[in-house]
Amino acid sequence: MSARSSFVVVANRLPVDRVTGPNGSVIWRRSPGGLVTAMQPVLSSQRGTWVGWLGNATQHGAPPPEPFQLDDFRLRPVPLTQEEITRYYEGFSNSSLWPLYHDAVEPATFKRRWWEAYRRVNHRFAEATSEEAAPGATVWVQDYQLQLMPSILREMRPDLRIGFFLHIPFPPFELFMQLPRRAEILRGLLGADLVGFQRPLGARNFINLSKHLLELHTHSNTIQAEDGRRVMADAFPISIDVSEMEHLAESPEVQTRAKQIRAELGDPRVLLLGVDRLDYTKGIERRFKAFRELLAEGRLTVPETVMVQVATPSRERVEHYPALRSKVEREVGRINGEYGRVGVPAVHYLHQSYSRTELAALYCAADVMMVTPLRDGMNLVAKEYVAARVDDRGALVLSEFAGAADELRQAFTCNPHDLDGLKQTLLHAVRAEEPEVRRRMRMMRRYLRAHDVNRWAISFLTALGSPESDRP
Ligand code: ADP
Ligand code: G6P
Repeated sequence: MSARSSFVVVANRLPVDRVTGPNGSVIWRRSPGGLVTAMQPVLSSQRGTWVGWLGNATQHGAPPPEPFQLDDFRLRPVPLTQEEITRYYEGFSNSSLWPLYHDAVEPATFKRRWWEAYRRVNHRFAEATSEEAAPGATVWVQDYQLQLMPSILREMRPDLRIGFFLHIPFPPFELFMQLPRRAEILRGLLGADLVGFQRPLGARNFINLSKHLLELHTHSNTIQAEDGRRVMADAFPISIDVSEMEHLAESPEVQTRAKQIRAELGDPRVLLLGVDRLDYTKGIERRFKAFRELLAEGRLTVPETVMVQVATPSRERVEHYPALRSKVEREVGRINGEYGRVGVPAVHYLHQSYSRTELAALYCAADVMMVTPLRDGMNLVAKEYVAARVDDRGALVLSEFAGAADELRQAFTCNPHDLDGLKQTLLHAVRAEEPEVRRRMRMMRRYLRAHDVNRWAISFLTALGSPESDRP
């Protein structure tokens, strides 16, 4: 085994996709996703180890992949069997926890056999982490797939400093109480020294549940765990690599591409943009409905207004996702059928992944960015759009149910459940005068520059009391 790390990040996924090059060679490429985007700069600067699953990149029946180096940090793959993928990842993580933690906007499903796989996989992640971590190391566990890991790891390695960060919302008492094994999940999280949430409300929900469900003593934002340790719970809103996005947006390549995109779309007066994983939490259907009604009422017209919706393929084997895709694609067909013309569709729908460069160009090209989730932990796309607007132009329509709404207060905020309100907000953003748009964007950019992902990581690690927080 190579030298153990004093800093280990653990997440369900390793931050890579395996792609095959033109001559059959294997290339490891950074994969999309909020978590990956957020963690990469932190980990690179600290030469740590990332423990996680390689996704479907591994061949069925192949021997477990060995740890390997990517840029300046080490990757430690944790293998999952097909059955574990079905029960731990698609089942308990994405069919029980994900919908329940997102306000049950789609109903959560519970199956007893999923729980056993969830527990077993969390145990395997803890074992791998224990092997990678040096004595006294800091371990930072990420997200809802690994909520049991802190307590399992603490039992194996009481010398470690353990932080946990939940990237998605933490639900209120009434919803959490529906979860079978709810007490075990809480105890799992309480194995950490610090449990971080996106919003203060998430931390309050967690403290409240510890008090009422486990009958633990709590004071302010600390909880006295059953073994007597003091566990801290607090909000640490995640951010993005702001300067990376600014540099991209300023580059001649992106600027040229942004102009080209607008030209290819027929130089519309207003370009509306949505960029989301194709997920039922993102409010994509509400957005289309609002757009369709505005076209029907003649308050928006084609080709003066054109919408681009990028919908990244996601969790296609999990219930609700294929159905969502069908509904979205049917709606796009309906809008284009009713309001498009030959060569001039009203909606350009792209069910694909894109490079950072292409995304930045789309952000720079769009007059109005629509971020309308029904519930979202943070929503990094909203922050990326703001960071990309180095020209201080562009209007952000932002749901109040996204964590980002706590911070991006100059956005055009909306309640996506209220269709008339959403339409009003969209029109307001489309029609806003340039000075107002610039004023709002300038203030949001200023805020974001002072609150980037590096600051997020440092504030979490400082609260955890980790020596890693002193490093650049
Ligand atoms: P979530 O984590 O729920 O997917 P976020 O908005 O927080 O939502 O993060 C999504 C991340 O994925 C962003 O960094 C965004 O740039 C990236 N992303 C979204 N769509 C695409 C796409 N089609 N191609 C590449 N990256 C994408
Ligand atoms: C959200 C979750 C992450 C997850 C990502 C992509 O950002 O908080 O934990 O990795 O979505 O989803 P996937 O299921 O493809 O990993």
